[in-house]
Amino acid sequence: MTVRRATGADVPVLAALRRAWTEEDHGAAPADPGFEDAFAEWFAAEEHQRAFWLAFDGDTAVGSMNVLEFTRMPRPGQPPGRWGYIANVYIAPQHRNGGIGSRMLAAALAHADERGYVRVVLAPTERSVPFYARQGFGVADSLLLRLPG
Ligand SMILES: CC(C)(COP(=O)(O)OP(=O)(O)OC[C@H]1O[C@@H](n2cnc3c(N)ncnc32)[C@H](O)[C@@H]1OP(=O)(O)O)[C@@H](O)C(=O)NCCC(=O)NCCS
Repeated sequence: MTVRRATGADVPVLAALRRAWTEEDHGAAPADPGFEDAFAEWFAAEEHQRAFWLAFDGDTAVGSMNVLEFTRMPRPGQPPGRWGYIANVYIAPQHRNGGIGSRMLAAALAHADERGYVRVVLAPTERSVPFYARQGFGVADSLLLRLPG
């Protein structure tokens, strides 16, 4: 198993994983032949502010995630502050519970530390809470959430 940063050259692989995740959650989705182009456009628009990772079993990509970087409003006399939002964390079902997701998350958190993030935020599913808790995430008491009425 290996984990590495993903680049624009990996867009087809990232899109294939996203399609697989959609099919896992929603059953065989409509073919949506425009999806891969839409994904490539989204990646091109986002890559200046997101870091992407891929996890591999041999040569086969089995998971991915990304971190969206927010840059805080500058303050005079202070270095720029940043924080991160972890998104789209996915390991293919047959490769789960073997530690690869944890390795990928650790790589993203090392990146967060290198970039000096003042916080890392995410919205977990209930089942994944222990996965994140093992790497230091706790319940937020300093954020508010508004959902559309
Ligand atoms: C969450 C996920 C990335 C973890 O990857 P992984 O390689 O299985 O992770 P690890 O082997 O390092 O850790 C296993 C932990 O993952 C979590 N997990 C296992 N199966 C899961 C599932 N189907 N969905 C969500 N989390 C799961 C559990 O916390 C588990 O630990 P526990 O059994 O002690 O509670 C992976 O399960 C997954 O892709 N799930 C579906 C998509 C998802 O829920 N993404 C996260 C949304 S916030």
